[in-house]
Amino acid sequence: MKIENIKVCAFDAYGTCFDINSAAQELSSEIGEDWLSFSSTWRTVQLEYTWLRSLMKKYVDFWKITEDSLDFAMDAHKINIKFKNQLLNLYKKLNAYPELSNCLEYLRDKKIKTCILSNGSPILLNDLVNHANVKNLFDNILSVDEIKVYKPDPKVYEMVTKKYKCTPNEVCFMSSNTWDVVGGGVYGFHTCWVNRFEKEFDRLDYQPDKIIKDLSDLSKLL
Ligand code: LAC
Repeated sequence: MKIENIKVCAFDAYGTCFDINSAAQELSSEIGEDWLSFSSTWRTVQLEYTWLRSLMKKYVDFWKITEDSLDFAMDAHKINIKFKNQLLNLYKKLNAYPELSNCLEYLRDKKIKTCILSNGSPILLNDLVNHANVKNLFDNILSVDEIKVYKPDPKVYEMVTKKYKCTPNEVCFMSSNTWDVVGGGVYGFHTCWVNRFEKEFDRLDYQPDKIIKDLSDLSKLL
């Protein structure tokens, strides 16, 4: 079943369009076989810091959070500090998932607007889309830095409806982060959970409208 009357497709960035493990993977021979577990700690703590800082009303931008969580993860996994700058630089050039550009071209042909809606700092997101050669395929890049609070605060999802002067149910939101799918869905978006790694969905009184394996499946739904 297709989702009807969608005017805007909003994409989460990290994990949905870009492979967050690709930075640590690039250095895996130096980091050792623990690289994926280290990368998971980095990501988990990064997200925890976004939630905690939002609750404490102590916003700092996503780059600072990325660096703080990297410091934590490097210490926790006993990784030599000499890799820190390399890892941070690699985080600015994460690999885009290979199906991303075709998916955006498909939506453009269907005259559906596309944007990124992300915790990422504007400069980081700009580097990512440039590096992946997809900048021109997105109509807008929306960063929470404009409102200084992180997902899943409803104000973040409201950025999309404000930008496009539309209602929440005219937006389809794609995220691989289960809690982000819930945040967008509770706000009123149609949601597609991009379940790349056969994960478990959250128990937060919300279920995604659709579950897809990767973004190439979107053409069957829109
Ligand atoms: C983002 C994180 C949540 O891009 O993946 O907003």
